[in-house]
Amino acid sequence: MISDVRMNRRTFIKASVATAVVPATVAVLAGRSSPGSSRQQLLTASAATPQGKMVTNTSITLNVNGKNYTVPVQPRDTLNDVLRNTIGLTGTKRPCNRCECGGCTVVIDGRNVYSCTFLALRAGGGQKIMTVEGLANGTTPHPLQMAYVKYDAMQCSYCIPGQLMSAYALLTTNNTPTRDQIRQGMSGNICRCGTYAHQMQAIEEAAKVVSGAQPSVVMPPVA
Ligand code: FES
Ligand code: FES
Repeated sequence: MISDVRMNRRTFIKASVATAVVPATVAVLAGRSSPGSSRQQLLTASAATPQGKMVTNTSITLNVNGKNYTVPVQPRDTLNDVLRNTIGLTGTKRPCNRCECGGCTVVIDGRNVYSCTFLALRAGGGQKIMTVEGLANGTTPHPLQMAYVKYDAMQCSYCIPGQLMSAYALLTTNNTPTRDQIRQGMSGNICRCGTYAHQMQAIEEAAKVVSGAQPSVVMPPVA
């Protein structure tokens, strides 16, 4: 008889958590779970609605750096989740995960976008996604990358992938930006190390190369 089972909401949740977490914990402690499979199990377990109905996984194709990746996603997965955890492109960082720092910036169809708050499903319609891994041309660094090195425009570098992608988006639409336009184009990207002045110099020189006014970034002679 169902009425004999003294199951209220609190005991139900305790039982559910124990059922879902204990086997996963045992598997991890036993060294049996791969990172991918344990994450998938936990995601699947936590995808149940309060009514017990499972949210259906789906499959999408993302075009990243010119290559198609067909990947499983849940409706709540962000583009950052999929790039980093599913595809393995960890150059895109996730410093704040709340749309405040720009460290997760990627370029979608020429626009800089915070990947931490952009749902992966929205990027599965054939859009061209570019991450920092796609910036270089083979083994030849992009002029922005060369200029960032030349002007020492980085310290810890945590923010730099996102900075580069915003700078790339800026130069894609305007390759002769003024200083004010550079400030505006880079305004959503925070650098906790305060490398802004050097980044300004780097973007100005890279812009000359991208616009054709200068053949390449002039690197200082090696001492
Ligand atoms: S991680 Fe996306 S804005 Fe900070
Ligand atoms: S170089 Fe450290 S946060 Fe920008």
